[in-house]
Amino acid sequence: MEQHATTPALQPPQPAVSPAPLFDEGTGHTGRIIALANQKGGVGKTTTTINLGAALAELGQRVLIVDFDPQGGCALGLGVEPSGLEVSVYNALLDRDCDVESVILKTSVHGLELLPSNIDLAAAELMLVQEVAREQSLMRVLAPLRSRYDFMLIDCPPSLGLLTINALTAADGVIVPLETEYYALRGMGLLMDSIERIRERLNPRLHVDGIVATMVDSRTLHSKEVLERVRDAFGARLFDTPIRKTVRFAEAPVAGESILTYAPSSTGATAYRNLAKEVVARVAQSQSARG
Ligand SMILES: Nc1ncnc2c1ncn2[C@@H]1O[C@H](COP(=O)(O)OP(=O)(O)OP(=O)(O)O)[C@@H](O)[C@H]1O
Ligand SMILES: [Mg+2]
Repeated sequence: MEQHATTPALQPPQPAVSPAPLFDEGTGHTGRIIALANQKGGVGKTTTTINLGAALAELGQRVLIVDFDPQGGCALGLGVEPSGLEVSVYNALLDRDCDVESVILKTSVHGLELLPSNIDLAAAELMLVQEVAREQSLMRVLAPLRSRYDFMLIDCPPSLGLLTINALTAADGVIVPLETEYYALRGMGLLMDSIERIRERLNPRLHVDGIVATMVDSRTLHSKEVLERVRDAFGARLFDTPIRKTVRFAEAPVAGESILTYAPSSTGATAYRNLAKEVVARVAQSQSARG
């Protein structure tokens, strides 16, 4: 299958000559953790994680994509067959002897690495229930990696279960991909309430970095109306860059590539490049506001 053709490009990263100490400010990496979350299925979480990750890497940022969905869509979209993985984020979460660095894969995109997942992660959700501090398991895995990356993007599954709670507990920010369709705002109240509850009880750092409108069809009045309603509801939290509907987004993962290399001059690639610039600017703003 064509998507396997790029698999050899993915290899465990070379061991660093001297591993960076935890939270080493001296590395210059900002280590921002962002969860891509929406309990609604098929709204563009995985597509946004892969393409925003690739666009941030293109800007020279060091990026780790954390696939936190048992569907393993990030692996597939970057040319890895998830069922063939010997170790995955599951092992990093639950095997005490597993070193997370041995699970991370380099991708064919310079500066973009992947902590892959597969169907094993579905079992992790059940096993985590019995763990002490079960909501903080992913945070414990990612915290030591902060000094190595500028961005860690967590692709959440379509639910508000324990995996998403772990992602939101580990994260500094959330980006919500929102499909531009009639019922788009339905379910957003529940998601915002959940984010608020996690901020109060588990993670005071958590901040909504923004909402990204996906699958926008600018030719239809309907799509424009929905976008207006989203803007009324969320104001400046809506990113200026809309992600338009195009079949290119379904084609690129089949080739195991981000849209930035699959169709570099397409409107989709341009949109994710613009979104990446907005994300960098917003994060810089919110970090300086926190001091
Ligand atoms: N802007 C877009 N235009 C057209 N198709 C898109 C766009 N974004 C995503 N898609 C397609 O829509 C489908 C769902 O996208 P994606 O897998 O990114 O959503 P998701 O929110 O991660 O889904 P799930 O909830 O199942 O994890 C995929 O087939 C994807 O290729
Ligand atoms: Mg997905």
